Parts: sequence; structure tokens; C-alpha cells
Amino acid sequence: MSQNPVRFSEERSEDVVAASFAGAHDARLRQVLTSLVRHLHAFAKDVELTQAELDAAVGFLTRTGQTCDDTRQEFVLLSDVLGLSMLVDTMANRAPAGATDFTVLGPFHMVDSPPRRLGDPISLVPGGEPTLVTGQVLAAGGRPLPGAVVDVWQADEKGLYDVQRDDVPTGHLRGLFTCDDEGRFAFRTILPAPYPIPDDGPVGELLAAAGRHPYRPAHIHFIAGADGHAPLTTHVFVSESPYLDSDAVFGVKDSLVLDFVRAEDAELAAAYGMPVPFRHAHVELRLRESR
Ligand code: BEZ
Ligand code: FE
Repeated sequence: MSQNPVRFSEERSEDVVAASFAGAHDARLRQVLTSLVRHLHAFAKDVELTQAELDAAVGFLTRTGQTCDDTRQEFVLLSDVLGLSMLVDTMANRAPAGATDFTVLGPFHMVDSPPRRLGDPISLVPGGEPTLVTGQVLAAGGRPLPGAVVDVWQADEKGLYDVQRDDVPTGHLRGLFTCDDEGRFAFRTILPAPYPIPDDGPVGELLAAAGRHPYRPAHIHFIAGADGHAPLTTHVFVSESPYLDSDAVFGVKDSLVLDFVRAEDAELAAAYGMPVPFRHAHVELRLRESR
């Protein structure tokens, strides 16, 4: 007897289930759900998924949801360690020639950065290796963008953000700068250290089970904005940092790795009130025009 083509069978499972979404009114939703079902069924067939494994996956996703609260988003972290966040971010922000590459926002942009004046310190407590960051916001073609706004945040010398410490003021290692009429900015800070992503939940269990470490290489986050240009969300990575080739969230792009040079330039140090010696990084942020 031939099989009824609309009833479920192992052979036609993806066709039968995909067809059940054919009536979705929104064409994009229909496309996404149909493709999702086809890939999901192909995956289950490929690995011959067992009931015990499906139950374990449901338990894992349940615990992932239960770990989320107002300040922690374990599902985003899961997407991060699966490389999905970086893939979607990269597809959404294909850089035109000359524009700076994007990378993930991350979960630590959770408080507003305090407005600061150009050259101000963002490090509010003693400790860490003195570092001067100078930079310029430009259009992709190289034209300086006067009055651009640059939001920065970073971890400290132990790899902790202000929101993870109760002995520092909120706003430590954060700053919001308005660039000068050549699009330039500068701030005094400390060299950031590598740090682990939150690994005390289900995502941490997944990494441990896979023999993966939870570390991100040392970096400083930037969001730069200017009139007529799309905001740029990115990091710069310290070129000597460990984990550049094994970032737990796959955020490193070659173009974003930068030398934080050991500097002894007394004139530059005096201009910014830096002790000698100090680290110096110069960051160019090149924005694409808004569509
Ligand atoms: C971060 O760099 O702040 C970050 C990004 C993704 C996941 C966890 C942390
Ligand atoms: Fe970070």
C-alpha cells in the first residue's frame, strides 16, 4: 500500500512538517520555519538522535531559560558560544571597503557610560598598567567625522568589569566621548586582561563537556556614531593577548587586533598626563554611511 503523502513517516518527515507551515501569512516567517524544520530533521536523521538525547537537550534548554534574569541572558550566551551571534552580526554588517569590521556587543554594556572630556581617565581606582588610547573616527573613505560620539568599556587588569565588582564605582573603565572637529578622541586607561565569559550556568557546562575554555582575549569595546553614518559596534584586541585564536565567542577578526606598544615618549606622556613608560594604542574607527 502506498504511503499517504500528508501523514507523518520517517522518510517524509521534513516534507510533512514543512508543509504544515505553508499557511503562515508572513512570507519571511514561512521561509524561516520551513528551512528550520528541514535542517532540524536532517540533523536528527544524520546523528540518529535518541530519545534520551532529545530529553537531555530539552533539559539543557530548560535550564538555560531558568538561568536568564534581568541582568543575565543565557540564551544569548549560548548563541555566542555556538558562533551564531558572530555569524548573524557578520552577515548583517558586511564591511564596505575601508570600513571597520563589527564584532559582538556582549552582555557588559549594561550601564550607561559616563560622559567624559577628551583625554580624561576612565580608570577610577589605582592598579593596572597605564595605557593611553588615542583615536579618530572617520568615514570609510577616510574623511574625519567631527563631533562623532565614542562609547568605550573594558575589563580591568584582572579581567573584571565594574558591574562584577562591588569595590569600584559604576562607570569605572567606561566613558562616553565627543570627538573634536577632526573626529579625534583620547582617554587614559589600563591594559585590559583576558577574562572568562559567565561559565557557572548551562553554557559553562556545555563548554566543559566539549573540552572548551571560556576565555575571551583582552579587548576594549567601542560603539562609535556620527551623523549620516551607521553606528559601529566593535572591539580592539590586544595583539599580545592569549586566546586570540580560541575566543570563546569567536569575536576576533584579524583587522581588529592592535599593538598596544610600550611607549617612552616623554612629550606624548606630558601631553596626556601619563607616567613613563606607558602603553599606547591608536585606534581608527571607520564608519559606513547609513542606508
Ligand atoms: C564581552 O566581550 O563583553 C562578551 C561578549 C560575548 C559574550 C560574553 C562577553
Ligand atoms: Fe568584553
